[in-house]
Amino acid sequence: MKKVFVNGYGSIGSRIAKFIKDDPDITITGIGKHSSNEKVQHIIDDGFSVFVPEKKIDDFKNYDISGTIESILDDCDLVIDASPGGKGFLNKKNIYEPKGVKVIFQGGETIFNDNAVADILFNSRVNYAEAFNKKYVMQGSCNVTGMGRILNPLREKYSDRLDSFSVTLVRRWADLEQTDKQIVDTIEMTEQPHHADDVKAYFGKDGMNMELQFYGLLMEQKMFVILLNQPNSVLRIQICYISMLI
Ligand SMILES: NC(=O)c1ccc[n+]([C@@H]2O[C@H](COP(=O)([O-])OP(=O)(O)OC[C@H]3O[C@@H](n4cnc5c(N)ncnc54)[C@H](OP(=O)(O)O)[C@@H]3O)[C@@H](O)[C@H]2O)c1
Repeated sequence: MKKVFVNGYGSIGSRIAKFIKDDPDITITGIGKHSSNEKVQHIIDDGFSVFVPEKKIDDFKNYDISGTIESILDDCDLVIDASPGGKGFLNKKNIYEPKGVKVIFQGGETIFNDNAVADILFNSRVNYAEAFNKKYVMQGSCNVTGMGRILNPLREKYSDRLDSFSVTLVRRWADLEQTDKQIVDTIEMTEQPHHADDVKAYFGKDGMNMELQFYGLLMEQKMFVILLNQPNSVLRIQICYISMLI
């Protein structure tokens, strides 16, 4: 039985915790909560123990919390960090490294340069076995993960004929729960999306060329163009799918 602590209970952390809590090989030792608000009680009502930063403990005196994040880290095998992008790196420096605990970070972090949280960007369809025994692993964001799952089987089957991959992402501005996020009513192109570098990190230089960000709360769209060389021509494969948020 492995003891797992989930630090952060937003869009991603709450789903991870609810998903793994029924796994017979895992005990969730608790959830890390950082702001003192009504969501503390929601976490307790969901059946989890809540732990808070030592220096903020007085802010939580109206809630039935179970202890400090610093103390629970001494009693877990793995942390799943689900903090907002960039805070995972700070958590690594401030609490995880001093405690010597293993951590999985989320897609808002990076594996490049001074703020790298790990030396591997995990994709279950591409580098599953390489993650074994790593102390720190970064899980790619949803789009980065989806791309590996779609493109890697094509790469495995047709590597000798593969000419190029090109991917266009049309993304929602915010999750449904993120009501405090500003929604801009426009189409805007991100010229150097992190997704391209992230995919190339596990995939080599075969890649993608652009990402569009598009205002649309209820949908995301992914378009793939894959070119395969044939004896006297080039075969163009187009895949397009739309995901709805409900
Ligand atoms: N949402 C998506 O679709 C999506 C997709 C792919 C990847 N990701 C990545 O997943 C990560 C989490 O994103 P999210 O969408 O779940 O964010 P979110 O909904 O804003 O939730 C983040 C949670 O982290 C907590 N938090 C604040 N400071 C923290 C700290 N220092 N340490 C630990 N937790 C802290 C917040 O708790 P309090 O309310 O208590 O302050 C909040 O509940 C990011 O790296 C993001 O890029 C998100």
